[in-house]
Amino acid sequence: MLDFLGTRQRTHTCGELRSRDAGKTVTLMGWVNRRRDHGSLIFLDVRDRYGITQVVLDKDLTPEGHAKAEQARPEYVVCAVGKVRLRGADAVNPKMATGEIEIAATELLLLNDAKVPPFSPAEEAIANEEVRLKYRYLDLRRAEMAHNLEIRHKVALAVREYLNAQGFFEIETPFLTRSTPEGARDYLVPSRVHPASFYALPQSPQLFKQILMIAGLDKYFQIVRCFRDEDLRADRQPEFTQIDLEMTFPQQDDIFRVVEGFLKAAYEVIGEKIETPFPRMTYDEAIRNYGIDKPDLRLPPMTDVRGVFSEEELAGLKIEHGLPIVAIVLPGRQAMSNTQKKAFAQELNAALAPDLAFLDVERLAGSAQYAALAERIDATAARHCGLERVEPGNRLIVVSPRLGATAPPRDHLWLYKKAGALRLELAKRFENEHGAFEKKGNADDYRFLWVTDFPFFEWDEESKTWTFAHHPFTSPHEDDLKAGRMISDPEAVRALAYDLVLNGLELGSGSIRIHRQDVQQQIFRALGMSDEEAKARFGFFLEALQYGTPPHGGIALGLDRLVMILAGATSLREVIAFPKTAKAIDLMVDAPTPVSDAQLKELHIRPSVR
Ligand code: AMO
Repeated sequence: MLDFLGTRQRTHTCGELRSRDAGKTVTLMGWVNRRRDHGSLIFLDVRDRYGITQVVLDKDLTPEGHAKAEQARPEYVVCAVGKVRLRGADAVNPKMATGEIEIAATELLLLNDAKVPPFSPAEEAIANEEVRLKYRYLDLRRAEMAHNLEIRHKVALAVREYLNAQGFFEIETPFLTRSTPEGARDYLVPSRVHPASFYALPQSPQLFKQILMIAGLDKYFQIVRCFRDEDLRADRQPEFTQIDLEMTFPQQDDIFRVVEGFLKAAYEVIGEKIETPFPRMTYDEAIRNYGIDKPDLRLPPMTDVRGVFSEEELAGLKIEHGLPIVAIVLPGRQAMSNTQKKAFAQELNAALAPDLAFLDVERLAGSAQYAALAERIDATAARHCGLERVEPGNRLIVVSPRLGATAPPRDHLWLYKKAGALRLELAKRFENEHGAFEKKGNADDYRFLWVTDFPFFEWDEESKTWTFAHHPFTSPHEDDLKAGRMISDPEAVRALAYDLVLNGLELGSGSIRIHRQDVQQQIFRALGMSDEEAKARFGFFLEALQYGTPPHGGIALGLDRLVMILAGATSLREVIAFPKTAKAIDLMVDAPTPVSDAQLKELHIRPSVR
């Protein structure tokens, strides 16, 4: 028999009571986390978002309450009235915040029962993620999930408060809109009123925020949901949240300062400290030193050791000269065994492009012929990485172009990128074993980096055309425009685009925008878009650009990604209340689903074969 709540009110949460509260009469409400039946004494651990408190039902004190506790099962919702008392010294639980006290109940109400849950929220780790997602309400009862959502809430709030104090307005922009320029596939929404016409859900508020600058609103931000139909990974969700902002008349530095400011505030509210300003690196430097445009600064950089090889050594080792020869210091603190290295080498040979080879400096050092070369490589790399010396356990691997190798056209940074991929693979492999990414509990845990001066264009091998690297509203460097490189040397044109990188993850991305219609048109043409096509896709925006558009720029940060790192999680699903699977399914509500023929008809969509 279930009980009615009546007029009872909760006096405390289940995480609140301490020894100083002994003697108080309290009313707690929550879920049964665990129940232990010791005959005339029954212990209920009662849980809510704030914690767990032990409630004791003593048959002598409350026969009725004790009888109810006999019926109580995990996840039943209960209300316990009683007195706070200190636990005996041997019963104190130092692992629980409330572990010094317990409630000697005088009354217990069973407010609701619960089916036997498919897993217990009392467990710390639940292996089957699908079950967690299907019964998300049970999963979210777990302390870890509540903690992650708390971080998310606090971070969003701190960002809002900071930006508000800086004079930013939070302005909402439409969800039912037109296709936006981020370059992923759109989620489309059919219009009932306009047959064969569709809204697109925004991939970002990009054009709206630019229009808000044209409209004179000066400083805009929004913590906003974005939608992209793309292949999903651990750091991608089909709907995700951006901290999106835009400013009028900014230099790049102004935008960096704002972002550094709100991140500092966000870290502070969760009790962490970060150093600002963040270091900066150009795209070119990033690729040459890390082989990737989102370097993880927790790992040592790569070193181009081309200069230390003699012609004879190059010939002897069958290495092509003229291309970079990249040395990688192995991450982690311990040695990789020779067997490990050998197995890895075999894999590498298969994985790396066939005209690349790699040398193990350890082996070079062991041969009479190349020992001096090995020493020179070690010394050069140590200097470059700021190390006194390369520890024997972290002995280098050198990625080199095989004799006869040539870089693919339009990708002179190719070898660095290959070596960079290898560097990360090595780090991933040895991360757990050797603690390459171990949290050290200091400012080094969060290695922020601004990457600037991205190339404006990217060569698309598939279509054999230039495509935009960021989005087509990004401004090229004024110098490159003035020099006419848009036409003469597109490859060399730099964008006023920047990324914010945190521990090897792209956290944010932004740019100074084009504010002149003639330049915008030039860009569309350079991208191979005819004036008609540009007009059809972005006509409203090109029109707006002609009514006095001020210079402007902005950025968007992935809130989910930021919180994921702060929570020490490895998937965005851990920090989103109701996420989707890698197949873009919401397992709890079971979406997407087919709809009725009647609904389709109303939307002027012919049912297809099912
Ligand atoms: P961009 O497309 O680089 O830029 O996105 C900005 C940031 O949003 C996050 N992000 C994602 N997070 C989770 N799941 C996804 N599928 C996903 N896609 C992107 C990343 C990324 O750095 N309008 C521009 C910004 C600008 O120019 O101001 C934009 O959206 O953290």
